[in-house]
Amino acid sequence: MSPARPKPARKKVEREARGTVGTTTVDNPRITCRNVNVYYGDKHAINDVSLDIAHNEILAMIGPSGCGKSTFLRCLNRMNDTVPGARVSGDIQLDGMNIYDKGVDVVPIRAQIGMVFQKPNPFPKSIWENIAFGPRIHGVSNNKEELHQIVETSLKKTGLWDEVKDRLDQPGTGLSGGQQQRLCIARTIAVNPEVILMDEPCSALDPIATAKIEELMDELRHQYTICIVTHSMQQAARVSQRVAYFHLGDLIEVSDTETLFTNPRHQLTEDYITGRFG
Ligand SMILES: Nc1ncnc2c1ncn2[C@@H]1O[C@H](COP(=O)(O)OP(=O)(O)OP(=O)(O)O)[C@@H](O)[C@H]1O
Ligand SMILES: [Mg+2]
Repeated sequence: MSPARPKPARKKVEREARGTVGTTTVDNPRITCRNVNVYYGDKHAINDVSLDIAHNEILAMIGPSGCGKSTFLRCLNRMNDTVPGARVSGDIQLDGMNIYDKGVDVVPIRAQIGMVFQKPNPFPKSIWENIAFGPRIHGVSNNKEELHQIVETSLKKTGLWDEVKDRLDQPGTGLSGGQQQRLCIARTIAVNPEVILMDEPCSALDPIATAKIEELMDELRHQYTICIVTHSMQQAARVSQRVAYFHLGDLIEVSDTETLFTNPRHQLTEDYITGRFG
């Protein structure tokens, strides 16, 4: 008779930041968040979250609807400044600079830390203008030839150039949904960002368009830091190197992607990834 199998060890729980299981810091941070809280009026939407995002990584943020993923993502480029009643406290640094310091101009911050939304939102302008607009207003270039170069490079990086090079003067809104989303990513890239934030960028797209965006993200990671909110655990598993699991405004667990999905340490994470919750 084989000996009784030993009982599995109790879940190992490392606590670093208050309430978060796993290691929230990295050796080469591009963004560091410390003790971030967000309130909408009396509602406490993000509860004392500390988290780093590394150079050249894709961090996926997952969790049930309403847990604060979009709220936290918006903190990273001060988009909550535009939400009436929203109040952010704590410390968020990009390459060592506190982006909430008084005197920091938010316009260049939002170029350095670009955002791609759930619904593709091209400007009601030509494909060419969609890309050239940002570099022009952010003072990257005002020269038509240089701008054209930026348009071409940005569209090539997002794999869209061959599909649109003969119709650059046509409206961006006339492209397919997946093409529009790649146009929006190209528009974000055109202003030389360091970080790209994506809030459910594929939720309006079919599997083929989704696969193209995921491939693109994998390429972009070599040049940028990417933080993606997704409801698809398969997508998080495919594209990210680390995952952050949120629940009711708390950052519950942070881990490398494989560990989080195969060996979650917090019961709430396990319940969510096994479909028992959310
Ligand atoms: N503008 C707002 N005013 C008041 N409360 C808000 C506002 N935006 C979000 N909230 C609340 O803050 C909490 C977090 O919302 P958030 O949109 O960040 O969640 P989420 O995780 O992105 O959800 P989903 O997966 O549905 O997009 C929710 O309880 C939500 O109702
Ligand atoms: Mg959201």
